Amino acid sequence: MTQTIAGEPLLDIDAIDTYYGAMQVHFGLRLAVGVGEIVCLLGGNASGKSTTMKVILGLVRPRAGRVRFAGADITGWETPRVIARGLGSVPEARRIFPAMTVRENLLMGAYLRQDRAAVSEDLERILDLFPRLRERLSQRGGVLSGGEQQMLAIGRALMGRPRLICMDEPTMGLSPLYVDRVLELIQTINRQGVTIFMVEQNANLALQIAHRGYVLQNGRIVLEGAAAALLRSAEVQDAYLGGSAAPAA
Ligand SMILES: Nc1ncnc2c1ncn2[C@@H]1O[C@H](COP(=O)(O)OP(=O)(O)OP(=O)(O)O)[C@@H](O)[C@H]1O
Ligand SMILES: [Mg+2]
Repeated sequence: MTQTIAGEPLLDIDAIDTYYGAMQVHFGLRLAVGVGEIVCLLGGNASGKSTTMKVILGLVRPRAGRVRFAGADITGWETPRVIARGLGSVPEARRIFPAMTVRENLLMGAYLRQDRAAVSEDLERILDLFPRLRERLSQRGGVLSGGEQQMLAIGRALMGRPRLICMDEPTMGLSPLYVDRVLELIQTINRQGVTIFMVEQNANLALQIAHRGYVLQNGRIVLEGAAAALLRSAEVQDAYLGGSAAPAA
């Protein structure tokens, strides 16, 4: 069940149609993320997952439907205003600033904040969470390994003190060890009170840490439910996990 604040989900995508020129990507897309949840969006290549993130962030404007976040209708808002409302983002392919130092990258995540003292405290707290970044504070972001850059992208998102972090394929291209670390970290951040909405190709792993999931196919939600149920679902197994469903518990 989706937890709510004042009777509504933290994020509510309601009947979105999105286009790139004449090409329609979303067909009446609906999904919701409750306060405190980890929700994952699964789906094959080109199904519209990253576009969903872009719609939430205000980078792509839907032609129909509404997006509500933290009690406001944010449809059509500019990205900085959405971020100021409490949205954090870990975009596809990380997109850290390669020429800036690790410290500068992290501080960029707080560029909209006025509370400088609290920003310094948060920097310390985040460096406690990511000891590798503390060791590399004055190195350029571009020299970090892929896994370290992912940590940096997540740390940068946290610096905005978001209520919700949207992550687009946070484990992409990482070795199994880093995949485990990133997923553990997502759980840690979630337990500290941050709601998570993530796109993942790695359905099997994502569903192990998520509370709920949605499956997107050609711009429509074709399946949704509790993560444990999706993990057992033969449909999800066949489409995304490359195996047959485990027997029902
Ligand atoms: N800026 C753009 N202009 C035109 N078409 C685009 C643009 N961005 C994405 N598309 C198209 O929209 C469709 C959905 O793309 P999207 O990036 O949302 O897919 P995705 O589910 O994230 O895929 P992947 O798993 O490969 O990351 C694709 O057919 C893609 O080619
Ligand atoms: Mg994508």
